[in-house]
Amino acid sequence: MKPLASRTDALRQSDIRAITFAVNEHGGVNLGQGICDQPTPEAIREGAKRAIDAGRSLYTAYNGIQPLRESIAEKARTFNGIDCDESQVVVSVGSTGAFVSTVLALCEAGDEVILFQPFYGYHSGILRLHGVTPVAVPLAPPGGAQEAWAVDLAAVEAAVTEKTKAVLICTPANPTGKVWTREELAGVLEIATRHDLWCITDEIYEHMTYDGREHVSLASMPGAAERTVTLSGFSKTFNMTGWRLGYAIAPPEASGVDVAQKMGLVNDLLYICAPAPLQYGLEAALPMPDSYYAEMLADYTAKRTLMCDTLAACGFEVTPPEGAYYVLAGFRPLADRPGFADDSEAAQTLIEGAGVGCVPGNSFFAAPEDGRYFLRFCYAKEMDVLEDACRRLRAFFA
Ligand SMILES: Cc1ncc(COP(=O)(O)O)c(C=O)c1O
Repeated sequence: MKPLASRTDALRQSDIRAITFAVNEHGGVNLGQGICDQPTPEAIREGAKRAIDAGRSLYTAYNGIQPLRESIAEKARTFNGIDCDESQVVVSVGSTGAFVSTVLALCEAGDEVILFQPFYGYHSGILRLHGVTPVAVPLAPPGGAQEAWAVDLAAVEAAVTEKTKAVLICTPANPTGKVWTREELAGVLEIATRHDLWCITDEIYEHMTYDGREHVSLASMPGAAERTVTLSGFSKTFNMTGWRLGYAIAPPEASGVDVAQKMGLVNDLLYICAPAPLQYGLEAALPMPDSYYAEMLADYTAKRTLMCDTLAACGFEVTPPEGAYYVLAGFRPLADRPGFADDSEAAQTLIEGAGVGCVPGNSFFAAPEDGRYFLRFCYAKEMDVLEDACRRLRAFFA
């Protein structure tokens, strides 16, 4: 037999899915995978049912149906402050599909993309799959002289090489919950502009920022839009991870280069289009009222408090997330306990001992050793499920 493509060599089942499997086997509570088990808003569900009944079953435009793109552009102008129109919007199969289309439209195999560590594993995995090298710039770990997860601009500058094509920023970030400040974004933008790099931002958690923190979209800042692709989607905001609807907002056409069109054409080859009836169904429900976002944030704020307080009471080092819905907790103080020698062992111990699933830290680091004393807990759960998980954790560590 001829060998499989070498691009598959490093592919493994992600720890996150393995944890899901193990938790299900033990009948425990899964705080591993970043899926929200709350219901999708009724207006969206009803919209999709109507679209299916109306026979909206055919391929759509490769970049998404026009009214949905208009609705996304309107939201980008008003919520994100990005000066754009619908021609710049590419609707895809989740923000993940939009990211793949972005990578294929911008990067050659052999290019490098700078990202910030700890990072979301799909970012590095998707880059690698396409022959692009992720270059991880570490953020300041908690407990040091600097604020937790602060960005070191000198390290960004030092990471730029001849091969660097883009910088990728996730804000609010998975797994750290870091919400990038305007100043931090401006610092990276200055480097990107000086070296003529593209910027890609993943803003899928844009509606989840705590304690009044502002979500800043890089593309809204002066001089950024022309080099920035903004990724977002509906999976997290509307609890519809399995619908697979997300989008990119590309730079405006300039000097004959139409990034959105190229990304749309890539999207066409990969997926033809995002699921048609779901696009119509979602569009019919947009915009959602402001109260929806306020209630969601209040709900996650209460869950964040419960999760952080529980982990701190159990002996973890907790840096409360500024956004998103994960706690990347340190467990060095617990490392002397049996079963807590490293992150994989600790995750397994918690599944077997407490019946709670979480993700080992190594998933978020280029060198697995750097994640050795971290575990990620996701609190996007129904409150009674989260309370059950927290009771289990407290009982285990009591
Ligand atoms: C940072 C980040 N981006 C993207 C995604 C996936 O988004 P989508 O469902 O829109 O593909 C996730 C899911 O966990 C995520 O954490």
